[in-house]
Amino acid sequence: MSNATLYPVPEEFARNALIDQDTYQRLYQASIDDPEQFWAEQAKRIDWMRPFKKVKQTSFDDHNVSIKWYLGGHLNVSANCLDRHLEQRSEQTAIIWEADEPGQARHITYRELHRDVCRFANALKHQGVAQGDVVTLYMPMIPEAAIAMLACSRIGAIHSVVFAGFSPEALAGRILDGRSNVVITADEGLRGGRSTPLKANVDEALTHADIKTVDKVIVVRHTGAEIPWHDHRDRDYAELMAEADDFCPPEPMDSEDPLFILYTSGSTGKPKGILHTTGGYLTYAALTHQYVFDYKDSEVFWCTADIGWITGHTYTIYGPLANGGTTVMFEGVPNYPDVTRMARVIDTHKINILYTAPTAIRAMMAMGDAAMAGADGSSLRLLGSVGEPINPEAWNWYYHTVGKGRCPIVDTWWQTETGATLMTPLPGATPLKPGSAACPFFGVQPALVDNEGNILQGAAEGNLVLLDSWPGQARSIFRDHERFVDTYFRTFKGTYFTGDGARRDEDGYYWITGRVDDVLNVSGHRMGTAEVESALVSHKDVAEAAVVGMPHDLKGQGIYVYVTLNDGIEASESLRQALRQWVRHEIGPIATPDVIQWAPGLPKTRSGKIMRRILRKIAVAEYDGLGDISTLADPGVVEHLINEHKSMT
Ligand code: WTA
Repeated sequence: MSNATLYPVPEEFARNALIDQDTYQRLYQASIDDPEQFWAEQAKRIDWMRPFKKVKQTSFDDHNVSIKWYLGGHLNVSANCLDRHLEQRSEQTAIIWEADEPGQARHITYRELHRDVCRFANALKHQGVAQGDVVTLYMPMIPEAAIAMLACSRIGAIHSVVFAGFSPEALAGRILDGRSNVVITADEGLRGGRSTPLKANVDEALTHADIKTVDKVIVVRHTGAEIPWHDHRDRDYAELMAEADDFCPPEPMDSEDPLFILYTSGSTGKPKGILHTTGGYLTYAALTHQYVFDYKDSEVFWCTADIGWITGHTYTIYGPLANGGTTVMFEGVPNYPDVTRMARVIDTHKINILYTAPTAIRAMMAMGDAAMAGADGSSLRLLGSVGEPINPEAWNWYYHTVGKGRCPIVDTWWQTETGATLMTPLPGATPLKPGSAACPFFGVQPALVDNEGNILQGAAEGNLVLLDSWPGQARSIFRDHERFVDTYFRTFKGTYFTGDGARRDEDGYYWITGRVDDVLNVSGHRMGTAEVESALVSHKDVAEAAVVGMPHDLKGQGIYVYVTLNDGIEASESLRQALRQWVRHEIGPIATPDVIQWAPGLPKTRSGKIMRRILRKIAVAEYDGLGDISTLADPGVVEHLINEHKSMT
């Protein structure tokens, strides 16, 4: 693949780009040679209320992991995203909201957004929310979600956004872990013409016996549906807004004060509350948004990610707004009312930069050229991809059919933990190779190590680690620093371990090969195998379960489940359906198993560890090359599983 077709930077693009090849090389070198100087310079894009005293104080030593940037500095995120733009762009659109139903868009100016954020910040204070409190958001993609996030940042409350596709059970776990006292939600969410009962889900989550902290639920009336109402706890968003003052002073926050937590899946245990702080995160979000997307004033930027994920935090909200940009929030799904929806949104709002996920691209591609048929698409200048490796076929379709061969594609590799993009081509600087995330962004020092932790040189394949910190890096796992250290800094000492594997070719380009741990990537959503397994074994008929990923044409990875039933329970098609339903109920639709195979026994080592390597092979019918199975406690189960698999296909 290293000799893959090289797509040079289009000349016209290069001419107008913010960063060309020489500048990239010069700035990258400067960022590595003297990080303090480089990052002090970059921080000038932020308005500081009090200057920082020290740029960087970071250690990856597993006895003392500590990550601090812009020490002693004070700033406010919402003031950087709103107030400072008022002089120049109060009437410019900050957010274009595209509703689930076509033709119902709303444009919100910076002036309006500032006013609403101030009001809601006052309303939150009125409801008793104080600096350092955790506020949980369980909201659809509506402007009120952005308002709530910014209002939290204005008063120094920590937001914890929970994807509205998660089940009440999953929501409860996150509220509990965050010890949040306020939940903000809507009556219903709407996606693809179907509604989700968000308020009812919150009520159900709050019946969880262990949740004792939540005393307020603020509800946005979005669809107007009838909803259950509890006077002692529930507050109407519109009523609070009507009573609130138009101005709320932005709280000066320390650089290292928490800005938000966001739960993400790991290879073991419950989801982790990844903690991001204020100064470094915002600087890095704004900088990457500008340079990775070559973002220029007055351009319309559309990141299709839901705010429930890190991509939505950084590139739907904070990056574009910190840069005074126009950002699009889309409530719906790419295939509703039909496959031309994305194209219609692009043309209607004259989108200049489109940032989406391979899974959406593949879904459009599956319909041939219908997705772009009849579309103009001439407003597009740049395309982006994120969330999972993009297969060259999807890349080419995106490039030619959506971008008409004019628009570079930035394939951005990053994670919830990294805050913003770490590896990507820069569109005016980097010749593209379909499927490669290309090169490190400024200040980022990737390396490949073998399983013993030796750093590999030149063209090589190995575990992807980072040798030094960058400002947007997560600081900890909320209230569990030890788990943070354990998860990321103990595998390969002295480095941050990403959990991904990667290959570096002769030209120094990086190719992400996917997770090397037990994390799945389903439609660009991270899913811990342990989470799905624990949902399954909580079902009364299930004795044991093992989950592995399998290749899936649209989702990238599908969920393949091996289930051992309790003694005396009959395997049946209806039980299979019931287990699927059960997982949806416990976690959410995104965790629905694609295949459930009955397994009277699972392949385990004598110490009881499930050999997923073997299960992954059987799932794709690679019965040969299972490797050494003689170390299994009961090698006989393998043959049984193979026979069962053959009988299913
Ligand atoms: C994967 C999403 C290949 C990777 C921003 C990573 C990618 C995980 C890419 C993080 C990409 C993300 N190419 N793989 N361009 N972008 N990944 O935390 O496995 O939801 O570790 O953050 O997605 O997922 P997360």
